Amino acid sequence: MPKMSDVAKLANVSTATVSRVLSKSGLVTDITKLKVMEAIKELNYHPNILARHLRKMQTNTVVTVVPDLTNTFFSKVLRGIEAKARENGYRVLLGDTGNNENLEYEYLEVLHNKQADGMILLAARIDRKIIEEMSKKYPIVLACEYIEGSNLPTVSIDNVSSARKATEHLLKLGHRRIAHLSGPMNVILSRDRLKGYRQALDSWNIEIDPLLIQEGDFYYKTGYNLMLKLLSIENPPTAVFSANDEMAIGAIKAAQEQGLRIPAELAIIGFDNIQISEICSPALTTIAQPAYKLGETAMKLLNLLIKGETIKRRQVVLDDELVIRESCGYSSMTTK
Ligand code: RIB
Repeated sequence: MPKMSDVAKLANVSTATVSRVLSKSGLVTDITKLKVMEAIKELNYHPNILARHLRKMQTNTVVTVVPDLTNTFFSKVLRGIEAKARENGYRVLLGDTGNNENLEYEYLEVLHNKQADGMILLAARIDRKIIEEMSKKYPIVLACEYIEGSNLPTVSIDNVSSARKATEHLLKLGHRRIAHLSGPMNVILSRDRLKGYRQALDSWNIEIDPLLIQEGDFYYKTGYNLMLKLLSIENPPTAVFSANDEMAIGAIKAAQEQGLRIPAELAIIGFDNIQISEICSPALTTIAQPAYKLGETAMKLLNLLIKGETIKRRQVVLDDELVIRESCGYSSMTTK
């Protein structure tokens, strides 16, 4: 059976464009629309056959789309979704985009085809207009990631203030050359965590050295490589705020291999509180996201949407927590 990506390939456009044509979002030129329609015809692509027949039928299934299944942060979010889904009589299907936003468009087809009653997107990198159009027709909830200025039902933490808190922790410990390993800039979480880092340094009147900000991609290996890069500059940092735990653990390994003692010679703070952050050595100080609750709350909102109920609070912001372990110089204790 032909897929949306086959149509995109034949029409020589992106899957986003095919999705725009199908959702009639009006953002496509007539020529492109024609090319897409011809490709649809040639391939005999039927995105809405099931939708037409099954419009009134319940599938008792919801879909969750994650950006990276290898990141264990998402396991706990998924556990929260699964628990709430079962409680409400749904089973959960899972899609992993591997950080490829084209796959987000493909998963939206599941809703077009009425193969699920609703969707929780843990990655929200696709065109805002498309997702807003889709959410007028189908129940969709965003969790962890969000879209700036959008009214879509969303559950997340306040990433700006969490990142500010992480950076301030290092400032309070006396560090002034603080590096930031960011996530990819096409992801809102990365931009917001960078914003929080900048805000903290600004409020302490510390000039930001662009050399100390290195763009990563949330992967362990990149944390390792970027740490080596930071250690090779003339005036290396004494502390690092990493946009997630995976990169922080990579950074710890790189620094230790270079003979640095953590936290005596370099402090490192992460973000997420994945399970391995308390097992690694030294144990990682980090910002804990309420991963299970993020999932549970997202599913609760989705259930309301599916049932056609009104959601009073469409943007839910949950609390994070600074978990102080060893990697910045304190022993076990937790603070809000
Ligand atoms: O997808 C990467 C990151 O986004 C995770 O590490 C977690 O922080 C999530 O919010």
